[in-house]
Amino acid sequence: MTDPAPAPFQGQPRVLSGVQPSGALHLGNYLGALVKFARLQADYETFIFVADMHAITVWQEPAKLAAQTREIAAAYLAAGLDPARATIFPQSMVPEHVELAWIFNCVARLGWLDRMTQFKDKAGKHKERESVGLYTYPVLQAADILVYRATHVPVGEDQRQHLELTRDIAAKFNHDFDAPSFFPLPDALTEGPGARVMSLRDGSAKMSKSDPSDYSRINLTDDADAISQKIRKARTDPEPLPETMEALKARPEAENLVAIYAALAETTPAAVLEEFAGLGFGAFKPKLADLAVAVLSPVSARMRGFLSDTGELDRILKAGAARAREVAAPTVAEAKRLVGFLGA
Ligand code: TRP
Repeated sequence: MTDPAPAPFQGQPRVLSGVQPSGALHLGNYLGALVKFARLQADYETFIFVADMHAITVWQEPAKLAAQTREIAAAYLAAGLDPARATIFPQSMVPEHVELAWIFNCVARLGWLDRMTQFKDKAGKHKERESVGLYTYPVLQAADILVYRATHVPVGEDQRQHLELTRDIAAKFNHDFDAPSFFPLPDALTEGPGARVMSLRDGSAKMSKSDPSDYSRINLTDDADAISQKIRKARTDPEPLPETMEALKARPEAENLVAIYAALAETTPAAVLEEFAGLGFGAFKPKLADLAVAVLSPVSARMRGFLSDTGELDRILKAGAARAREVAAPTVAEAKRLVGFLGA
């Protein structure tokens, strides 16, 4: 016997995403996440949060966590997220996430979590020493998404598996509690310019806040001198820029710098080649540095502005959390009713 196809989710399209406050933000986060979020707010109802509860799955100094949470929020606003259009808040201010996460802990199977490659990568050989939270991290992520019944989730490639788990949890909940279209099965939005900004030292590794070399990344807080110096020292090859994208394929470092230029200039890598083909990196790098400084300095200045008045920033986050709870609370109330809990 085959089950009938579940009725499609009937709700409105909604975007949700978040970034963990576990270190300084860099150009990869800016182009791959923040700029993308700001674009999506024009077309979708958008929820963007700071994933502070995910951050504590590994040790965070309490005083630093608060500062880093504000820093991510300031970066969201500096990148163009508008609190009048998007709902912006810290995850820990919306307790409905954890309430739904507990129910999902009882829906997800151990076997599903055992397959999560990010946990295996982070835990390495000593998983018995990791927090239980790090293990159930993807279940909380599913709750983050589904508590708003979000349909589209802009994330990096590395989060694809967590999105698949989110769909599995949604489908099993809908099935087990006989509510075929209660939760949507959300899609990852992984494409777009700046989707994969690579390390400046190694074109085959993603730009990362955990890379020990600060020369591997451009931080959002770097000043003009630091940005120029890092680009000047970026690894490249001696060949000039080619005319076709095809010819860039075997040159990951060159390809990365062209992709960064294109994303910053809001154009395509092919258009960058059209303009600069034949130029060596000695000449291309200063142009890239100028562009990076021109784009990033107003962003970091705006960020500093928000961080110099945390009263205003905190008010924005509090209002965002209140708005988020208005949407999340009815979902959790209905989920609890479906499970069979007594209503309040
Ligand atoms: N795991 C995500 C990351 O590290 C952060 C995150 C937590 C997230 N909850 C989320 C992203 C929900 C999208 C949706 O990038």
